[in-house]
Amino acid sequence: MDREDKIAPSILSADFARLGEEVAKVEKAGADLIHFDVMDGHFVPNLSIGIPVMESLRKVTRLPLDAHLMIENPENYVETFVKAGASSVSVHAEVCKDIPAMAKRLHDLGARASIGINPETDVLRVLPFAEHLDMILIMSVHPGFGGQQFIPEALEKLRVVRRELDRRGLKVDIEIDGGVKLDNIAEVKAAGANIFVSGSGIFGRGDYNRILHEMREKLSRTRTEV
Ligand code: DX5
Ligand code: ZN
Repeated sequence: MDREDKIAPSILSADFARLGEEVAKVEKAGADLIHFDVMDGHFVPNLSIGIPVMESLRKVTRLPLDAHLMIENPENYVETFVKAGASSVSVHAEVCKDIPAMAKRLHDLGARASIGINPETDVLRVLPFAEHLDMILIMSVHPGFGGQQFIPEALEKLRVVRRELDRRGLKVDIEIDGGVKLDNIAEVKAAGANIFVSGSGIFGRGDYNRILHEMREKLSRTRTEV
């Protein structure tokens, strides 16, 4: 099944004092989405950015904003994030009481609906609801911090999810998030991902044009093997 590969720089590793410039640079370098990590200090042991930052970014980039809500009680916030400019919203399965209802709510608001799962969460928490979703986000680090090592077990999870989606003929995107860099992006594509979040693999590394170009090259030379 034809799928588009998309590179989603995570601004968690950007220079926050120059966030607009950082986003402009990755946009110019060919990024497809801007991955926007929201943390509440409860679902994850860290805080990050929220609604005012999203509203500000919405005005300075044409790229879709991909909100990743690492927060408890996500139902209280999804509407505000969509109104602030999120094109897609990922809510975590671990804190989502009713996945079909959440997906419907996001669709009614005009956003793409996605459910995320942590490294220790079984794929069965999300697969039964795949028909309702536009995307499944698979965490390949424990959420909360940028710059961690890719957890290799995520590769098998990707394969299981991609195989099952293909078996059911569903055109659902699989986003991989955590520890994705130039040196492993081909491997995660081969395992079934088609949306690639990368924070510390891009920001703070100098030439974003070169990195994005090389990532794209690797993706174009790799086939999904599930
Ligand atoms: C982790 C976040 C990720 C993070 C990825 O909690 O959800 O999006 O920014 O950063 P890297 O690519 O550095 O692992
Ligand atoms: Zn994320």
